[in-house]
Amino acid sequence: MSSLRLAYADPPYLGQAKRHYAHDPSGIEATEVDFQELVAQLRTYDGWAMSASSPSLGYLLSLAPEARVAAWVKPFCSWKPTHRVQYSWEPVLFVPARPKGTKGRASVRDFVSANITTRRGTHGAKPDAFCDWILDLIGAEPADDLDDLFPGSGAVGLAWDRLVAGGSAVLAGELIESDGIGGSPIELESTQTIGYSSPWNSLG
Ligand SMILES: C[S@@+](CC[C@H](N)C(=O)[O-])C[C@H]1O[C@@H](n2cnc3c(N)ncnc32)[C@H](O)[C@@H]1O
Repeated sequence: MSSLRLAYADPPYLGQAKRHYAHDPSGIEATEVDFQELVAQLRTYDGWAMSASSPSLGYLLSLAPEARVAAWVKPFCSWKPTHRVQYSWEPVLFVPARPKGTKGRASVRDFVSANITTRRGTHGAKPDAFCDWILDLIGAEPADDLDDLFPGSGAVGLAWDRLVAGGSAVLAGELIESDGIGGSPIELESTQTIGYSSPWNSLG
């Protein structure tokens, strides 16, 4: 199994650095990210993914036209009465390190449905199901190296640890049983959330 270099970028979204990250627990100065530079950095990796807001999608795709777009759908999301149409999904631009499917490995959907997090300290901290899905989206394998370029709460690092340990995807503190078809979504009636079961669960 060859080892590849992977990156996930979850920067302050375009135009939102000061609004959301002026008092971030990381202590990092909240300045606007240079997205041209960031895309150039991401292109040095074998595979990458970048979270974004839907209004910035056109601009970011103009910088990285080679990227595919996947969706994080948020059944529970920030709700603004001033918006008639709410922002209840987010795009993820990605270039997979291993684009081709094989019979020996479960494939992955280009969307995940998971509720936003609350009370994590970092604005926009990603839910565990999302983090597990991101790693599958870029084709991560345990022997790879992952750089989480904007770690915030460290949620993606924990997902990486789960992948390396061959552990289970976790959603809202509950272990999700694999359905035997790795990567398949599972309805959770209690939360109306679709969980995510990593294919690495079903390989053990
Ligand atoms: C969207 S959050 C990352 C959330 C993370 N993926 C998680 O799940 O917790 C963005 C992070 O980048 C930091 N940040 C803000 N401005 C930055 C900048 N110009 N350069 C680097 N990091 C920045 C913020 O302080 C915050 O911790």
